[in-house]
Amino acid sequence: MRKRTDFLVIGSGIAGLTFALEASHHGKVSIVTKSSLEESNTKYAQGGIAAVFSEPDNFEKHIQDTLIAGDGFCDEEVVRMVVREAPERIKDLINLGVSFDKRSDDSYDLAREGGHTEYRILHHKDNTGEAIQKALTEKVRKDPNIEIFENHFAIEILTQHHLGEELKKNYPGINCYGAYVADLISPKVITFLSKVTIIATGGMGNVYQTTTNPEIATGDGVAMVYRAKGIIENMEFVQFHPTSLYDPNTRPSFLITEALRGYGAVLKNMSGEQFMKRYDSRGSLAPRDIVARAIDNEMKIWGDDHVWLDCTHLNSDGLKDHFPNVYEHCLKRGIDITKQMIPVVPAAHYSCGGIKVDMDGQSNINRLYAIGEVASTGLHGANRLASNSLIEAAVYSHRAAISACARIKELTFEEKIPEWNYKGTTHLEEMILVTQNYKEVQMIMSNYVGIVRSDLRLERALKRLEIIYQETENLYKRSLISKKICEVRNLINVGYLIIKMAKNRHESIGSHYSIDHPKKRSSSEF
Ligand code: FAD
Ligand code: SIN
Repeated sequence: MRKRTDFLVIGSGIAGLTFALEASHHGKVSIVTKSSLEESNTKYAQGGIAAVFSEPDNFEKHIQDTLIAGDGFCDEEVVRMVVREAPERIKDLINLGVSFDKRSDDSYDLAREGGHTEYRILHHKDNTGEAIQKALTEKVRKDPNIEIFENHFAIEILTQHHLGEELKKNYPGINCYGAYVADLISPKVITFLSKVTIIATGGMGNVYQTTTNPEIATGDGVAMVYRAKGIIENMEFVQFHPTSLYDPNTRPSFLITEALRGYGAVLKNMSGEQFMKRYDSRGSLAPRDIVARAIDNEMKIWGDDHVWLDCTHLNSDGLKDHFPNVYEHCLKRGIDITKQMIPVVPAAHYSCGGIKVDMDGQSNINRLYAIGEVASTGLHGANRLASNSLIEAAVYSHRAAISACARIKELTFEEKIPEWNYKGTTHLEEMILVTQNYKEVQMIMSNYVGIVRSDLRLERALKRLEIIYQETENLYKRSLISKKICEVRNLINVGYLIIKMAKNRHESIGSHYSIDHPKKRSSSEF
């Protein structure tokens, strides 16, 4: 089965939906998304979206905070561009119907998070992402030029490889002609031909056992583009959020927003000591990589399963009003955050690296853009500043839409692309073979490629992953397409990229920390 569309958008978080709404004025848009239109990492974002909105803040301060959090590894030109364009993109979101909390004098109620020297985070209570996702979804569902394909899973992007050409890594002339997409309900594989394809598939948190990411975050975009010989970079910089609720039986881990620390909550170890000052003069509000490592270290020293986040000294009405989502969630689990400390642990949260793109979101593959968490723009460097992800997605979707729309009229469909080949594939007899490999990947990555790494652990992880890779590839080749097998294959690819890039980084920097390779520069304290 074949479909043709001007813009093929894969993913329906803030990045994909924002792009779709802009591009729909210039051609037919198809959004392919593997779950419902509403399901994404975006929906779970809590703290908010960073932008300079009022004095005493200014662009230079936001730029410097981003550069410092990124541990000297950001692309400064990109940082300057994103920070300057951020307020305009926030206005676009407001025009699309997103409401950000205000104070009684009608000014925005700006919050603060780790690494920010000013109050600059716009938010909607502590469920900002849900407010953004809802507003965008409503607009997209009403747009006559946008066709929505829910429960459709992008398997592979189409290039000259599908015309029988052999493509080399980093080959400059690769074109993207669309994607093979599995309809998860029917089930069948559709050949989607497009003039331009947009990868907006978000993160990969599920490569680890403990993550704040929902189950859709399996690194599909990075894996697809890597297999198509696109350039992937900085995958070793996996950001662990310092504070997810310690609740070993629940997946994903519930996030305890960093905005709580911006509001005055403090981290304590099991002895009740505010340990963060021993690690960094910024205390509980140091950048994320530093706080996550400090917590990991405290847990290891004392042999504890978690540390505490204490907000019991804060005004209880204020807490309930600002953080209703966290308050309610914890209360359901028997923790009244106004009276009791919250048990917290770090959890895999965000991929700073991804598909390498230019300042318009264009990848090294022609006609292929990558926007949002899946992209590596240079903004985050080795460690993302809190609340800089949603804004990056908004800025880059806008820039990618301008770039893609300007060229759409010159482009044509590649009709010679063949249909999906089902030959030799049958139904998988034992799903356990796939689910077990899924769990094993997560175990390998958590045990050997987590917050603290070493040469030995990385070597061991690579060897273990190789075995699972071979098994899964064999299974994939002889099985009819299923979501689970595609996801485990993608997670293996992503795990491989993280390990390989971590092995090649002979320095501890930002969120990549190795006991065998100390820090060379001194831009952060721990
Ligand atoms: P997503 O929102 O993750 O959307 C990806 C989409 O792609 C989904 O619709 C998914 O179903 C689809 N998809 C994936 N693979 C496929 C496939 N193979 N085929 C078809 N569809 C596919 N950032 C901030 O700036 N501020 C915050 O306060 C904040 N809080 C956060 C809290 C939590 C709990 C989490 C998990 C993240 C938070 N982040 C925050 C990070 C931020 O939410 C994400 O980085 C951002 O939302 C990513 O947006 P996106 O559009 O790139 O991807
Ligand atoms: C949070 O609310 O702590 C998450 C913010 C982010 O990931 O940027």
